[in-house]
Amino acid sequence: MANDPASESFETAILSGVDYKTHFDTKIFLDNYHTKESRFYDKMSEMLHELMAAGEIRDGSRLLDVGSGPSIYSVISAGSRCSDIICSDYATQSLDEILKWVHSDHDAHNWQRYFEYVCKLEGKSDEWKLRQDHIRQAIKRVVPCDVHQENPLAPLALEPFDVITSSLWLEAACSDESSFRSAVKQVTSLLKPGGILFLAGVQDQTFYSVGNKRFKAFPLSNEIIESAYAKVGLTNLSWHNETSDIKKHTFEGLPDDFSGLFAVSATRISG
Ligand SMILES: C[S@@+](CC[C@H](N)C(=O)[O-])C[C@H]1O[C@@H](n2cnc3c(N)ncnc32)[C@H](O)[C@@H]1O
Repeated sequence: MANDPASESFETAILSGVDYKTHFDTKIFLDNYHTKESRFYDKMSEMLHELMAAGEIRDGSRLLDVGSGPSIYSVISAGSRCSDIICSDYATQSLDEILKWVHSDHDAHNWQRYFEYVCKLEGKSDEWKLRQDHIRQAIKRVVPCDVHQENPLAPLALEPFDVITSSLWLEAACSDESSFRSAVKQVTSLLKPGGILFLAGVQDQTFYSVGNKRFKAFPLSNEIIESAYAKVGLTNLSWHNETSDIKKHTFEGLPDDFSGLFAVSATRISG
């Protein structure tokens, strides 16, 4: 396989920031992480499903997915009750990849396995196609986002959202605790008072790989997240953590140093 990381030697440079626009290859990313069955992403889907089932998302809610990359799996659970979904990312090539999926282009990525898995968790295995159609129709826009700007969606000025989802994103977009705190503040400013933020990611990661390239990550912990959330009025935290055997089920040949997975939901304080 051309993109088999085990067959390539790794570049020494560790990429970050603006490198996402030029060096993040969406096809290789999807091939590396989202083509084979993976306990890692099954677990992530389970955690998002459980948080979503416990949360209170009203039918017809508006949802923003931040740092979507070329992926849509993080909106499959929460998006079931949303009629208006916006996906966003820093890199144009990722936005283009999502648009291909929305338009059912012949070379769009196939997310069927994820829809089947989430619908099975919900006890609605035979409804995965309906859910896929719903999410395709509900994704109304795919827009640029830079979490390091005061308004991450600038120049757009959109009404705050009922729900924000995000996966494996802030650890990639932030370089240190200070940038993480301001990113959390910026994201929270896009959420309505009373709105719900679902964040999923990895703990203690300093880098991850896409093909033969490595990208820097900021090592997150529950404590760092709780402290940043407290400062911006995100309350009512509900956690899922998986640290036991998840490393055994990850991506053969792809160097990575995370220690576990987390998902957390939080509500923006009203008033
Ligand atoms: C590891 S990918 C995760 C993508 C997707 N959420 C997933 O779970 O597959 C990290 C994403 O962060 C985005 N990113 C990096 N810096 C960013 C920034 N300053 N603002 C917004 N997104 C950024 C990258 O473009 C990339 O798509």
